[in-house]
Amino acid sequence: MTRFRFQVAATDGKARTGAITTPRGEIRTPAFMPVGTAATVKAMMPENVRATGADILLGNTYHLMLRPGAERVAKLGGLHRFMNWDRPILTDSGGFQVMSLSDLRKLTEEGVRFKSHIDGSEHFLSPERSMEIQKLLGSDIVMCFDECPALPADRPRIEESMRLSMRWAQRSRDAFGDRPGHALFGIQQGGLEEDLRAESAEALRGIEFDGYAVGGLAVGEGQEAMFGCLDYAPGQLPQEKPRYLMGVGKPDDIVGAVQRGIDMFDCVLPSRSGRTGQAQTRFGQVNLRNARHAEDPRPLDPDCTCPCCTNYSRAYLHHVHKSQEIIAAMLLTWHNLHYYQELMQGLRDAIAAGSLDAFVAAFHARRAEGDM
Ligand code: GUN
Ligand code: ZN
Repeated sequence: MTRFRFQVAATDGKARTGAITTPRGEIRTPAFMPVGTAATVKAMMPENVRATGADILLGNTYHLMLRPGAERVAKLGGLHRFMNWDRPILTDSGGFQVMSLSDLRKLTEEGVRFKSHIDGSEHFLSPERSMEIQKLLGSDIVMCFDECPALPADRPRIEESMRLSMRWAQRSRDAFGDRPGHALFGIQQGGLEEDLRAESAEALRGIEFDGYAVGGLAVGEGQEAMFGCLDYAPGQLPQEKPRYLMGVGKPDDIVGAVQRGIDMFDCVLPSRSGRTGQAQTRFGQVNLRNARHAEDPRPLDPDCTCPCCTNYSRAYLHHVHKSQEIIAAMLLTWHNLHYYQELMQGLRDAIAAGSLDAFVAAFHARRAEGDM
């Protein structure tokens, strides 16, 4: 059986390009993972998500355990078969979503008890139960069960939370066991405190994981503070394993994080903003609700090869969005995911060619010109 492995093919400064090999296929890095929270990338057929260039999707333990339930997904053949996506799936572990989405949480050493945001029913998640659920789903890349405070938070709270997450990381490792072809990633915490990030990285390296995530960022600190942390955090994690920045981000966040040594990303932005009439483009964000598009016969981006830009005008996108037609979400999500994957390919090619600085300069210059 194909083993899970990561190979760096080229580097440019701190940036790396390469591939993660899994039994379900290769993940080219730096990689962007579209978010398929509830066993669907909203408004997209899986084959179309693949057509945008995605090698891997992200799924959520929290949402799937509540509805339709992990045991039910397992009975129906696992998440890949259930949602008709046969390539790799990474699942988040649930702790982070419990803290941001659920009602009435009670956090203890053992785990977290909470009420569902859907129907108020009571549930419990722990490292052991999260590992069990992610196994029932059939996830290829399993995330450790962790928790983290929103920023700004005071240092004692960040320290206490990070140490709890590191104890949970050990319990996650123990509960995961030995599953060839499947990977378990640790999650570094520690807020914006360099020494706490170092302590967290040290704890995770001691346990040993197949990959390492930088967690607890993009939680209210802003890009400058996030980049400040990313100037040192990836370097604290093993160089020979993939590094994943969770929940990031906007295109310029991704570019800056790749320059700082991050290999994997996930974010709801391209799919969620597509449903609110926002397009992510080479020249920045474009709001299709704006009346200036009402009679504009031009495509969203004349140089984009996605079906939205190839076949439809801004006037049409404006109309179907205003009319709340389902095709508005379909076309804009397709474009946004296509743009993100094209950006990742551009980053991979530039790193391989040793021309990342020039690529990044051109990226910023085109955005500064804006939408004309
Ligand atoms: N998604 C975004 N940030 C985080 C994090 O710190 N932990 C987990 N589990 N998921 C995340
Ligand atoms: Zn397009």
